[in-house]
Amino acid sequence: MSIEGKSLLSMIMQTKEESTEIARKEDTEKSAIPAELPILPLRQTVVYPLTFLPLNVERPESVKLIDDVVLGNRMVGLLTVKNPDAERAVPDDLYTVGTVAVVHRAVKSPTGNVGVIVQGIERFKPTEFTQTEPYLKARIEVVPDLGEESIEVEALSRNTMDLFQRLIALVSYLPNELMVAVLNTDEPRQLVYLVANAVRMDTDAAQHLLEIDSVKEKLHTLNAVLTRELEVLELGQKIKDEAQSDIEKTQKEYFLRQQLKAIQRELGEEDEQAKDVNELKEKIETAGMSEEAKKEALRELDRLSGMPQAAAEYSVIRTYLDWLIELPWQVSTEDNLDINRAREILDEDHYDLEEIKERILEYLAVRKLRLERDQDKGTKESKGAILNFVGPPGTGKTSLGRSIARALGREFIRMSLGGMRDEAEIRGHRRTYVGALPGRIIQSIKRVGSKNPVFMLDEVDKIGTDFRGDPSSALLEVLDPEQNFTFRDHYLDVDWDLSPVMFITTANVLHTIPAPLLDRMETIELDGYTEEEKAKIAQRYLIPRQMEQNSLQEGEVQFEEDALRVIISDYTREAGLRNLEREIGSVCRKVATKIAAGEETKAVITKDTVSDFLGKRKFYNEAAERTEVPGVATGLVVTSTGGDITFIEATKMKGSKGLTLTGQLGDVMKESAQAALSYVRSRAKELGIDEGFFDETDLHLHFPAGAIPKDGPSAGVTIATALVSLMTDTPVNCDVGMTGEITLRGRVLPIGGVKQKLLAAARVGLKTIILPRHNEKDLDDLPEEVREKMDFILVDTMDEVLKAALGEGFDRAVCDVSDEESATP
Ligand SMILES: Nc1ncnc2c1ncn2[C@@H]1O[C@H](COP(=O)(O)OP(=O)(O)OP(=O)(O)O)[C@@H](O)[C@H]1O
Ligand SMILES: [Mg+2]
Repeated sequence: MSIEGKSLLSMIMQTKEESTEIARKEDTEKSAIPAELPILPLRQTVVYPLTFLPLNVERPESVKLIDDVVLGNRMVGLLTVKNPDAERAVPDDLYTVGTVAVVHRAVKSPTGNVGVIVQGIERFKPTEFTQTEPYLKARIEVVPDLGEESIEVEALSRNTMDLFQRLIALVSYLPNELMVAVLNTDEPRQLVYLVANAVRMDTDAAQHLLEIDSVKEKLHTLNAVLTRELEVLELGQKIKDEAQSDIEKTQKEYFLRQQLKAIQRELGEEDEQAKDVNELKEKIETAGMSEEAKKEALRELDRLSGMPQAAAEYSVIRTYLDWLIELPWQVSTEDNLDINRAREILDEDHYDLEEIKERILEYLAVRKLRLERDQDKGTKESKGAILNFVGPPGTGKTSLGRSIARALGREFIRMSLGGMRDEAEIRGHRRTYVGALPGRIIQSIKRVGSKNPVFMLDEVDKIGTDFRGDPSSALLEVLDPEQNFTFRDHYLDVDWDLSPVMFITTANVLHTIPAPLLDRMETIELDGYTEEEKAKIAQRYLIPRQMEQNSLQEGEVQFEEDALRVIISDYTREAGLRNLEREIGSVCRKVATKIAAGEETKAVITKDTVSDFLGKRKFYNEAAERTEVPGVATGLVVTSTGGDITFIEATKMKGSKGLTLTGQLGDVMKESAQAALSYVRSRAKELGIDEGFFDETDLHLHFPAGAIPKDGPSAGVTIATALVSLMTDTPVNCDVGMTGEITLRGRVLPIGGVKQKLLAAARVGLKTIILPRHNEKDLDDLPEEVREKMDFILVDTMDEVLKAALGEGFDRAVCDVSDEESATP
């Protein structure tokens, strides 16, 4: 059997003349078609009538067939094989409709193959196979196509031409000349075969088209084939076009960029961005970053270099890299651990505070020892506890911190935590936030440019929490020596070692500091100053400083000792020195004004001239006036601004509703009031209170300064005293102050904050103080001058309190209010 293939692109084209000639020839040949023909099986090829096709004949039996045919009438029956894989075609393998063809040219190649060109003439059907060896032969019946002339055929033909034209425009395997041939064809049958021959179709479809008898039907089928082919091609083209335009766009950009670079190079302007990137790279290499940070920085730099400078992210990355580069990765100050020098500096900056300075020096000494030992062992810098200064405002907490930094030779950072609610303030925002920045810890470290500053966190007691997170937990990570060497700021997103930093915190009160924080601190309490101390500090530190701030020279203003005392007691009432410094400042300002105006050259401030500068006195001794009536007792309390005195008032009215309490009291305080009342009731008889008193009387206790929340048990004795004073109609001794918790049975229990309370009592001029006996030891902490000024009555029971406050047998005379001290302004 012979195997024939369409030699690839060779197409036979016909001009109009040729086709008419063929038609003519066809007529003669048609009549000459013999009744029996040799059959040439074709593999994967269908030859149509009226078309030329080159075939390659390989199989020996087929070659023999061609040899014989060429010698005879040159006619052969072409039948396509159904199953192209079959070794040798038998009649059953062949389709039953084929084409009678004339073999036009046969050229033998040296390998024994024969190349032939066949021209299809007419369709035929084999009726009977008459020979199988050496090649097939069959009797045949010619089956002409059924032509028809109608508008539909005309329309179909035109449509076919149209589709074919579009197809040729799209594909490369069809020559344009073919179109010319098609356009010149006016015979529908010829059009069908010409186009079918040119279009890509699989064998089954091609055979099907051949088998259709009616030309009209053939046109229909062909149109469907063409339409589908076109759709596929057009879609393919569309995909190709889109991909192409994408590539073109990026290529265009690339070329333009290259051109720009070339132009810049020509002009001697180095590419800005490349310059930027190179500089950054060098900085990253020399910044001394940790491995992790360097890796991250280089990674970001890599992203940066592939990004146009105008991109929004460019500046974000740029800023981030600047942060990383500018942090003091390797910069630290050398510690000066000379303990004697540290002492000198502390003494220079602060008056007295012996105990506190001692503790600071101890702390530094331990640090020094540890450091030396560590260096011997080759370990890293050791972590010490965090110093925590607690005390009323203006007692020198912040300035002590500053002194410590000066003594150590370290940079000093101060950061207030007051009112901070957002964790991000400490830890920063992630870089994905618009306008993100590192937290304030990292910001401050960058600002001072040293990795081991003294870092003061002010007002740890005023830190808050809300939905934005809990800053105290972030703070814990900052302060805890166990974790702060890998502190992770959200913005930097790489570890930063905070362990070389010396943290100092300050607070006004202890009880609002979060417990886990307090746990890691070494607390040092500053309770406030006595009048004596304040006067000394003023002479030595505050006056010189204020003089300098107000451009006054040595000798231009002079404060007499007495004058200072008056300022301290009549113009300020505080544990610390804030207001004192302010008052001194305002005196200095006024003196400066006078000197500038040429009115005076120097001013001496005496006890009597103070009011010329500061106006009327601001504070009076209220105690005498307030305790003039029965039912008011003076208590000693501790607030966030230091120790203070408070007047507890009790009053009675007709009724039977029991006890009313006002003044923003906490639960502990309310309970303490109930306990005091119960005690008084249980002792009514001994105290000489009328039996029916409690049935027909309402009591009201008020704790003045109602806007300030109060709590704590230490007002117990004061409440009980106020109640007894009211019920027995005996006023409380006007210069007595008291503090202590009571039990239901009238025992007096110890309380805290003694030093602050007593400093306050001394400030307002109370002479006698009633204290629980268990607090006796606290008196040792008291400055000598305060102890001398006052009498202390140490008590175990409420009876002793009453005796001291109301007098033996409650017979004390009413205080003499004509005393100058207590005169109302
Ligand atoms: N012992 C002292 N010797 C000299 N000056 C002092 C002393 N104590 C405090 N001062 C001065 O008093 C002023 C107030 O002190 P500082 O600012 O340190 O108060 P603070 O305790 O931090 O108060 P706050 O709780 O309000 O922050 C400062 O000018 C400080 O120098
Ligand atoms: Mg402070």
